[in-house]
Amino acid sequence: MRETAEFAALFTPFTLAGKRLRNRIAHASMSLLATPEGRVTERFIQYHANRAAGGAAMTVTEPLAMMRHQAGQPRVQVWRRDEADGLKRLAEAVESQDCRLLGQVQDAGRGRHFPGRNPEAIGASAQPDDLSWTVPRALSVTEIRDLIEQIAGSALHLKECGFSGVEISAGHGHLFHQFLSPWSNRRDDEYGGGWEGRARIVADLVAALRAACGADFIVGLKLPGDDGLRGGIGPEEAGIVGELLTRNRNVDYVCFAGGAHARTLEMHTPDRHGPPMPYMPFIKELRHRLNGVPLMALGRITDPAEADGILARGEASLIGLGRPLVADPAWPRKAAAGRTWDIRYCLSCNTCWGAIIMMHVPIACVNNPRVSRPDEVDFAPAPADAPKRVVVVGAGLAGMEAAWVAAARGHDVTIFGASEAIGGKAWLREQLPGGETVSSIYDYQTVAARRAGARFVLGRRATADDIIASRPDVVILATGSTMIPPDWLPAAIQAEGWVPDLRAAMADVARFGSRQPGTAVLFDADHTEGTYAAAEALRARFEHVVIVTPRDTIATDVQMVTRQGILRRMAEQRIEVVTLAEPRWSDDCADGRLELVNVYNGDVRVIDDLALLTYATPRRPDDALAAPLRAAGITVITVGDARAPQEMLFATASGHAAGDCV
Ligand SMILES: Cc1cc2nc3c(=O)[nH]c(=O)nc-3n(C[C@H](O)[C@H](O)[C@H](O)COP(=O)(O)O)c2cc1C
Repeated sequence: MRETAEFAALFTPFTLAGKRLRNRIAHASMSLLATPEGRVTERFIQYHANRAAGGAAMTVTEPLAMMRHQAGQPRVQVWRRDEADGLKRLAEAVESQDCRLLGQVQDAGRGRHFPGRNPEAIGASAQPDDLSWTVPRALSVTEIRDLIEQIAGSALHLKECGFSGVEISAGHGHLFHQFLSPWSNRRDDEYGGGWEGRARIVADLVAALRAACGADFIVGLKLPGDDGLRGGIGPEEAGIVGELLTRNRNVDYVCFAGGAHARTLEMHTPDRHGPPMPYMPFIKELRHRLNGVPLMALGRITDPAEADGILARGEASLIGLGRPLVADPAWPRKAAAGRTWDIRYCLSCNTCWGAIIMMHVPIACVNNPRVSRPDEVDFAPAPADAPKRVVVVGAGLAGMEAAWVAAARGHDVTIFGASEAIGGKAWLREQLPGGETVSSIYDYQTVAARRAGARFVLGRRATADDIIASRPDVVILATGSTMIPPDWLPAAIQAEGWVPDLRAAMADVARFGSRQPGTAVLFDADHTEGTYAAAEALRARFEHVVIVTPRDTIATDVQMVTRQGILRRMAEQRIEVVTLAEPRWSDDCADGRLELVNVYNGDVRVIDDLALLTYATPRRPDDALAAPLRAAGITVITVGDARAPQEMLFATASGHAAGDCV
């Protein structure tokens, strides 16, 4: 890997437990949902092998099942010792590429993301989980010692299979964090009482791992840096824990994470609504509390220059990257080669979290349609057997993804875009709060498409005749979708354009100029993330904003961490939410009077200073061009919203697949 002078600190080798790291970049533990049967799968191996091939010096797996009680979980079952072949293949695939492989040790304890309680939950004390209200069974001292022994035995097995080490997850509100925190640990025996007692389970575990696996086995520790809970572990308490657990220098590195399994879960995967590198303020302080043990900085470090700066300033010794290496496993290799312009950057949108937690599918990424594929790393589309003339209609994310991939395969590609601006709806999303990272998707696509020789015809809505005149072999239709007007809106009013859909309203919002008196009402039958970003933009303009939804709450189609942030911002900005209600249109609306009617009991709430009424509703595909083109004998492939209106993940995935198959 060629080193660049700019990132000298990032590409300086390091040593942990006598093992060489070729640079300072570690892949932070990410749950992949790639081992549903509890066995090592090819997808699991490929994912980590790709991060190694992309240049990371170390990769930490998701939590492995290191204890018997984790038998039913979709984690690789290490404790059974019957998965040695898979574990060895994983270790070989990673370690042979000069990348150290660590297995993560974790138990969720009382934590649960799903509805219902966990009857099997174990914990420090019988105190409820903040999200699921699961009350765990408090572990006895004998059980604690037995768990530690089981983990040490499993870690030794990992070592025998070729792993370089383990990382103990004692943050994020999981079991060991629950022991560390006075908020959840109310014990008065040797594993509770004060800081020393609460930290004892982790200290004993570290000692047991060292005794079982020796000095040449990396033992890392992920600790809470700030869990955001009153009576929990803030930066000061994290310093106390850090000092205690490093005082005999038995661990090889420490990293700190935010959040807990509570209303602060959103701090666990800090998103684009907050600052970059949000953990750095506490990380910088905590580095002095670790008795000289190396510190790994992590948390929304997305850019090589940011990472290099942290190291160069001596704020940490290692950089952990979770989501950025999901988005682009070749991030290290590209940074080393001075190709930062070629990195597909993490948007901090947490779509990856949504995939595993909400959709229950293996990890996926808006900006990386090839996660875990054998050709994922530094992906270069394979040349097409027979170059064709390809017309892409629509320059949004789906169309642009199809266009660059098709052009890079050697097809003759022309892109028609109705707007002068590339990006479609994503361009609009970029203008709204928390949207600035979105442009990196279409910026990458645009550069890649131009580099591959694609032509752009922008600023004009192409007709079927325009397209037929360009004599395409294939048309990729990426013409988006339109929100379906709600039933309560009379067709005549809708035709007059008095009540714009949310996209039209947002396009106009800049025209409103300074703050407007009165109330903006947003009818929400959408429940996706962009709707609430639009609500925030409205709040910046209008005196009041009211979201009205026929459901019993908002943001139900958004996964938990993003949803927590949405609920918090709506509350902080005093954006009012009226649930189980719909507007009732009447002539009074022209005079600023709008009735909101409860869908069950008909009770009416009146808004008497209506300044704007807009709606976000399910969308129907804008695919009218498909029929005439097909009638003209042209092959048409629909992608993105023009195929099935969904979130950005589907736009890039379907566009990518189309570009790859024409
Ligand atoms: C989809 C997803 C899965 C994660 N799974 C784990 C996990 O299994 N264990 C863990 O310690 N952290 C996990 N994390 C947290 C990351 O390791 C990391 O602390 C966090 O994402 C912040 O770093 P980043 O901004 O580089 O992604 C996960 C994060 C995401 C987004």
